[in-house]
Amino acid sequence: MTVRSYRLRRGRLSATTADALDRLGALVVPVDGRPLDVAGLFGRIAPLVVEVGSGMGEATAAMAAADPSRDLLAVDVHVQGLGRLLRRVEEDELSNVRVAEGDAIVLLRDMLKVVDEVRVWFPDPWPKARHVKRRLVGGAFADLVASRLRPGGLLHVATDWPPYADQVRAVLTPHPAYEVVHAGERWERPVTRFEQRGLDAGRPSYDLVVRRR
Ligand SMILES: C[S@@+](CC[C@H](N)C(=O)[O-])C[C@H]1O[C@@H](n2cnc3c(N)ncnc32)[C@H](O)[C@@H]1O
Repeated sequence: MTVRSYRLRRGRLSATTADALDRLGALVVPVDGRPLDVAGLFGRIAPLVVEVGSGMGEATAAMAAADPSRDLLAVDVHVQGLGRLLRRVEEDELSNVRVAEGDAIVLLRDMLKVVDEVRVWFPDPWPKARHVKRRLVGGAFADLVASRLRPGGLLHVATDWPPYADQVRAVLTPHPAYEVVHAGERWERPVTRFEQRGLDAGRPSYDLVVRRR
């Protein structure tokens, strides 16, 4: 049986989210395993950043606005959050954001060949011992990202759950495909919604950034 890194949340879409998904459907990529025409999707050739688990997308929109020379593909299984992000994209008139609905593993493994950066900010921590196997960032994920990043490309993971930080460090630091750029305090990114909840509860963030050799 496949071990999923996410919980599928059912429930009805709000009318505004459903409307955004309808109107802005051209910006949505279904994660169906078919190779993706990235230049066609963005209408240009530019460095591609993939944000895995974009949640409600506030950080995504902020980064895209701050970095218009790069294209940002946000992937999440949570369609409500993707709809919210699309509304921000429209409001802020961002031309460099697209959203992918589905499993990031399928997107990276089957649909993308080369990416310039992968961001995984506050992946679900799965704190219970019996759920640790569901954590996204493990050895298989490190290998998959290494196979997609161009040389010099970055993988940036952030978490506020210390045992997960230990796991990420243990997987990425000795990995032969990567060299460590930064390990420690939060590093060059907006505060995310999930992170803010942790900060409010007194949990500092840990960032690990590695570069593909
Ligand atoms: C804890 S939330 C963090 C969201 C956001 N990055 C933030 O910091 O506010 C983790 C997100 O990752 C998504 N997720 C988990 N596993 C995923 C996968 N395999 N593919 C796509 N999204 C995934 C979840 O649906 C959820 O929205």
